[in-house]
Amino acid sequence: MTILMSDQKVTQRILEHIEKGTTDLSDDIWREPVANYRSGDRLAAEINLLRRLPVPFCPSAALAEAGAYIAREAAGTPIIVVRGQDGAVRAFRNACRHRGMLVATGSGCTKAFVCRYHGWTYRLDGSLSHIPHEYGFPDLDKATHGLVSVPAVERSGLVFVAQDGDIDNAGVLDTLPDLIGPQQKIFARTESETEANWKIVAEGFLEGYHIRSTHRDTFYPYGFDNLNVIEQFGRNSRVTFPFRRIAKLADVPPERRRVDGLLTYVYHLFPNVMIAVLSQHTKVVLLEPVSIDRTRLITFALSNIGSSDSEQQEAVARDAAFVDQTGAAEDRDVTCAIQRGIGSGANTVFTYGRFEGAIAHFHRSLDAALATGS
Ligand code: FES
Ligand SMILES: [Fe+2]
Repeated sequence: MTILMSDQKVTQRILEHIEKGTTDLSDDIWREPVANYRSGDRLAAEINLLRRLPVPFCPSAALAEAGAYIAREAAGTPIIVVRGQDGAVRAFRNACRHRGMLVATGSGCTKAFVCRYHGWTYRLDGSLSHIPHEYGFPDLDKATHGLVSVPAVERSGLVFVAQDGDIDNAGVLDTLPDLIGPQQKIFARTESETEANWKIVAEGFLEGYHIRSTHRDTFYPYGFDNLNVIEQFGRNSRVTFPFRRIAKLADVPPERRRVDGLLTYVYHLFPNVMIAVLSQHTKVVLLEPVSIDRTRLITFALSNIGSSDSEQQEAVARDAAFVDQTGAAEDRDVTCAIQRGIGSGANTVFTYGRFEGAIAHFHRSLDAALATGS
């Protein structure tokens, strides 16, 4: 069970902060060695960790029907995730058991995976169904030459994959709140690369201390200067970014307060996934380290409204476009500029203040996970 506060409690805390001009504070500051953003050994250890932990691969909604699949690299490993005829989601290492060719690329819907090289064919459950001119492989046991499976499970509207580990790693998935409901549909997917370490990209989501300075003409006119509610659940965090218009709830009795459109929840699912629940849509951002100073961002945008009404859908798309073209672009610029600043060699340690407690929680959790290996 998660121990996140109810919307009403979060609202109450925000209203108190507005009145007093305060924000949530962590107990301590955090000092992070800058070498952790520049060391190839550190990155290798982090990628190993990403392979051992259960990590979100995509929203369940991306695999809506039997045969729907996504093939991509996760922590540098080519993986396919597919929904079977029985409705179950399965994950496999994306490599033909003949001579190793990728058996799928991108995404789509299929009845079987047919290797382009010589045509070996695999069912959606990974079993090898057909070898062209099979008499050329007299002693080959088809039963042991299916695609190599990796553990996968669906939770909270997401598909989790644990490549080299236990999908039920210490029950961490049991602490998740409901994140994406069955009525939510995907309306956009993108993939892009940013020239920055994956942890710098992650940090950009986790505090509101930068809102006024970085997003002066975009988010700040609607939001606050440094006003957040910050919660932790397990190794994860939730950071709440209220809009100024939430102040009107002060006049509404607590039990009748609704937060829709009045705040953004950003969930950090440790270690590398951000889920921003905005007023009309939810954005799932998967951060894949490509190299020490390069990150691939895989994003899925889901509508928060179940309705297929075209006017409402347009409002959702407008909302998403505003965020992408304004604030998110500013965050990208800043992220890349930080990476270049790191290269200057000016800093050996970064200090995260008491407004940046969700980042401290991330680094503390990452240090612990790297130390124990899980
Ligand atoms: S490598 Fe796939 S059929 Fe030969
Ligand atoms: Fe930002």
